Amino acid sequence: MAAIRYLPIDKTIIDEGMTFEFDLFIPSECKKKMNCFKENGSSITTDEKAMIDSMGPLYVEESEFEDYKQFCQNIKEAQEELEYISFEEKSETLYKNASEVLNNLFTNPETLANYDACKEVVHEIVGAILDDSFTIKSLLSIAAHDYYTHTHSINVAIYALSLGAFIDLQQETLLELGEAALLHDLGKSKISKAIINKNGKLTNLEFQEIQRHPTLGYSIGIKLGIKNKNVLLGIKHHHEKMDGSGYPSGMKGESIPLFARIISLSDIFDALTSKRSYKDPMTTFDALKLMKINMKNHVDIKLLDKMITMFR
Ligand SMILES: [Fe+2]
Repeated sequence: MAAIRYLPIDKTIIDEGMTFEFDLFIPSECKKKMNCFKENGSSITTDEKAMIDSMGPLYVEESEFEDYKQFCQNIKEAQEELEYISFEEKSETLYKNASEVLNNLFTNPETLANYDACKEVVHEIVGAILDDSFTIKSLLSIAAHDYYTHTHSINVAIYALSLGAFIDLQQETLLELGEAALLHDLGKSKISKAIINKNGKLTNLEFQEIQRHPTLGYSIGIKLGIKNKNVLLGIKHHHEKMDGSGYPSGMKGESIPLFARIISLSDIFDALTSKRSYKDPMTTFDALKLMKINMKNHVDIKLLDKMITMFR
C-alpha cells in the first residue's frame, strides 16, 4: 500500500472557533510519522489556537488538500465581503458628511469655514480612493443617483479623483483636483434658483446667465483665498470643449487645463448617469458609449478612453 502523503498548510488562517472538513496533522517527535492534531468537525479551542501559534507547521493529507484549498478560498471571500461592507458603511458616512458640507457651502459660498470643511471632504475622498479596498464597484455604489447641485459636485469629485488616480496623478495633485471638482459649480450659488432648477428649455437670456457660473465660481474661489492656479482654472474652464465651442473662453484642445478636461468628463458622465425628474439614469455603458460617439469633438478622447478602461 502506498504511503500517505501530507502537505503543509498556512496555519495563519486558523482561528479560534473554526471547524474543518479535513483532519489536521503534526509530525511526531521522532518525525517518523504524523499524528492527528485535530479531527474534522470539531472546533478549535482557545488553548489549541495558542498551541498552533507556538508550534511548527501543520499538515493535511494529500487526498484532503483540495478541501483545504476550498476552505482558504471561502475564508478569502468572506474577508473581502466584510471589507466591502465596512467600506460601504464608511463611504455612506463620508457621503452624508460631504452633502452637509456642500449644502452649507452653496448656501454661504464665501464663508471660509465652509471652504475649509470642503478641503477636509476632499482629503477623505482621496483617502478612500487610494485605499486598497477601493474598487470601481464601491465607486459606483457611493455615487448617489439623484441629481442635486451639491450631490452632483460630490459625484463629480469622486469620478474626477478616481480618474486622476487611474492616470497616476500624485496625491498632492489629487487633493488639488478634488478641490476644483468639488467647487466646479460653486458659481451656480450666485445664479437665480428659478433658472438653475428650470426643467424646460432655457431662453437665450437664461442660458447666457447660466454660462456665467464658471467665471463666478472662479471669483468666489479668489475671494476664498484660493491661490492654486490649477484649482482656479479647473473651476473656470470646466465647460470648455475640445473643438473650441465651449465657454467662457472658447479654449481648444490641450490648451484647456487638465483639471478642467477631467472635470468636464466627470460632469457629463454624472449628468447622464443620474436620475432627474425628467429622465431616467443611463447605465455606465450607455453613458460612456454616448460620450464616445456623440461628444468626440467636445471631450478629451484620450482621457475618455482612460475612463472607459477604468470602468472596465
Ligand atoms: Fe458647470
